Order: sequence, then structure tokens, then C-alpha cells
Amino acid sequence: MESTSPNTPLPGIADEHGFTPRPEFKKKSIRSYVIRAGRMTPAQHRAFEQQWSRYGLSLFSGQIDPAQLFGRTAPLVLEVGFGMGASLLAMAKAEPEKDFIGIEVHPPGVGRLLNDAAEAGITNLRVYMADANDVLEDCIPNEVLSRFQLYFPDPWHKKKHQKRRIAQPAFVAQVRTKLKLSGVLHMATDWQDYADHMMEVLSSAPGFDNQAGEYIFSAKPSYRPNTKFEQRGERLGHGVWDLLFEKKV
Ligand SMILES: C[S@@+](CC[C@H](N)C(=O)[O-])C[C@H]1O[C@@H](n2cnc3c(N)ncnc32)[C@H](O)[C@@H]1O
Repeated sequence: MESTSPNTPLPGIADEHGFTPRPEFKKKSIRSYVIRAGRMTPAQHRAFEQQWSRYGLSLFSGQIDPAQLFGRTAPLVLEVGFGMGASLLAMAKAEPEKDFIGIEVHPPGVGRLLNDAAEAGITNLRVYMADANDVLEDCIPNEVLSRFQLYFPDPWHKKKHQKRRIAQPAFVAQVRTKLKLSGVLHMATDWQDYADHMMEVLSSAPGFDNQAGEYIFSAKPSYRPNTKFEQRGERLGHGVWDLLFEKKV
């Protein structure tokens, strides 16, 4: 049985184009992203009108019930910052026995994923176009996630901007409450400095075991496809660091 997304108003504003998608967020002083003006193709724009009711979830609709949302009980994977969505879609296709929720603030990426998911007839995927911090706080129940994915988040190089990095102790503690026992928090980055920061934050976070051993990076698991930003990093000669931490009591 496939269910539909509950109460999902189109995220955006009515204007001369009919409707312009805009990400949902609550007021906050520090954000891990800047809203890019990125132009949307007509197909991405259309995807919101045609596919949002099928795949979209609203930050303002409150806590979800995953079993009701997907019409079944299955391992649930949450990905933050899926970019243009190709790797998330590939995972949803490759692991049909799992359900996936993606969160992204970049409207062209969300439009693209809506389009591609519909074209592929994907049923095990839902999407928020919203700030992940807000979605975690208001929409995701505790202890429901089997896996949490954060791949190649914005590195915010300049010292004065590093407070914008999403991988911070409070964020990790929040993610931990959403994971089931033995659920896995998986991060990856192509910036060594950010990899070291992630390792520091995760190793100091209570209630996790590093699957690779203390202060050791993990091999890339086979379920993670190469992402767009990873490929860009490879072209620039960057390395890649994966971190896999399991929730313990
Ligand atoms: C550098 S890109 C990486 C995209 C993709 N994971 C990849 O590897 O190709 C980081 C993405 O995270 C998104 N992002 C950053 N902070 C976010 C937040 N708080 N909530 C949702 N998305 C966020 C950005 O819009 C951006 O698309």
C-alpha cells in the first residue's frame, strides 16, 4: 500500500510566475547555508506543481509518522543537504527495502529530485525543502532513524565563518536522539580540515562508537554513491574522508 504525504502546502510564494519555490525555515541567527538565487529550469519549476503533493513534506505540518507516511514499517534513512539529489535517488533505487527522507534548501536541487523520482516511479522517498535543524527539531520523532547521512556539507573555510558549519556538537546530539539504538551517523567530506573537525566533534559526542576504531576514518561503504560535490573534489585532487559512528546506549 502506498500512502500520500499529509498536508503538504507548496513551499514558496505566489507571484507573477504563479508560484516561486522558497525553502521553509524558522528564524535563527546562524545558518549553515546561503539561499542561492540558482535559476530553476521550467521542468524543475513544474516538478513542484506536479510532484510536491506526492513527495513533499512541510516543516510546518509537525511530527511525521513514518509508518503512515510510507504505508509500511521499514528502516528509515535521513539525508541532509542532498544537493541536486542524484546520489540520494540512486540510494533509494538501490535499497527499495528502506525508506528515505531528504532535506535540502536549494530549490533547483529539490525540483530536480522531484522530477527524477517521479520519472523513476520511486515510492520510498519523501522530501523537505527546509532547514534541516528545524526539521529535526519539529518533524522527526525520536529513535526512528536507522541511518543519518551528511555528505560533503559546505566547508565554510574562513575562520570567521566556521560557526556556520553544520557538523557541530549540538547538531550531533540532536541527530543522536533521532537515531535508533545501533543506528548509524554517516558523514563524508573532501576537506581534511573539516574531516578533522567532524572527527573531533563525533569522538567527543557521548553515546557513539566509531565503527572504524577510535579516531580512525572508515572506508567508503558500498551503499554510498559518488556525489556531485565529491566528483568536483576529485577533479581538484581532494581526498575523501568517511566517518561512521554507531549509536550506543
Ligand atoms: C556542498 S553541498 C553538497 C551536496 C551533496 N551532498 C553532494 O555531495 O553533492 C551542501 C548542500 O547542503 C545544503 N544545506 C546546507 N545547510 C543545510 C540545512 N541546514 N538544511 C538543508 N540543507 C542544507 C546546501 O543547500 C547544499 O546544497
